[in-house]
Amino acid sequence: MPVNSETAEQRRPIGVFDSGIGGLTVVSALRALLPNESIFYLGDTARVPYGGKSATTVQRYSLEIAKILLQENAKTVVVACNTASAVALTRLTESVPVSVTGVILPGAQAAVAATRTGHIGVIGTRATINSGAYERALRSLESQIVVTARACPLLVPLIEEGWLESKITDEIIMQYLGPLVDEGIDTLVLGCTHYPLLRNAIARLLGSDITLVDSAQNCANAVRELLIRENLRAPEANAGSLQVALTDPPDNFLRVAREALQLEVGEVQLREVTSHAP
Ligand code: DGL
Repeated sequence: MPVNSETAEQRRPIGVFDSGIGGLTVVSALRALLPNESIFYLGDTARVPYGGKSATTVQRYSLEIAKILLQENAKTVVVACNTASAVALTRLTESVPVSVTGVILPGAQAAVAATRTGHIGVIGTRATINSGAYERALRSLESQIVVTARACPLLVPLIEEGWLESKITDEIIMQYLGPLVDEGIDTLVLGCTHYPLLRNAIARLLGSDITLVDSAQNCANAVRELLIRENLRAPEANAGSLQVALTDPPDNFLRVAREALQLEVGEVQLREVTSHAP
């Protein structure tokens, strides 16, 4: 490949998507690790949440969103949504002509690296927990691991409301996590890209004996390795940019996430989803 067209290939953006705004926690890790990469982020805010929907619906939505990322010339696709990673990663990998990275395996790797006792708790949306994707990923890494998983559907709306530090949120966290603590987990996977925004509250409530892990950092590492492997790293001199697009106009949660993550988001664009024949 001539040098100039090679550079043009490498300058293409990393396409990142989530059901909504939560995936910006992964963008934050990508920006920190790969500052010279450009990122095009698409949040499917018109159809969020994915967490209570069927696998078939989440697969269809994910394919439709990936199609928009490809129209934006994405050189690789990052599924910054645990729900979509849990139920749609295989479909995406089969259907999308660029490599696809999900967040489940990176989250499982972080947990296996952190656990001392081998008893890991996982929290996520109903779709993520019901899929059993974390158990499979954890056991593929370490067959003896004990997993206690629990769906926490009330946490996403609390986070979107910006109630990151509040008495009600604390009570709900403990209602969900108390049984996991009683069962003796020593590591907890925040298996939803929204949950890192509650990290401080969860850490305060669970104390220092339980290690909290999420996928963001390991996912960013996996993307870095993939780009090196595929000779797709942006040139060092490239000034990476972040473009954020949504399928519905931004609401309060974008402000919450932007402040919590201290991300420079700029002007938010709108994209319309076109239906994908299954
Ligand atoms: N960000 C999604 C995830 O990581 C949760 C929100 C939703 O239910 O769509 O699973």
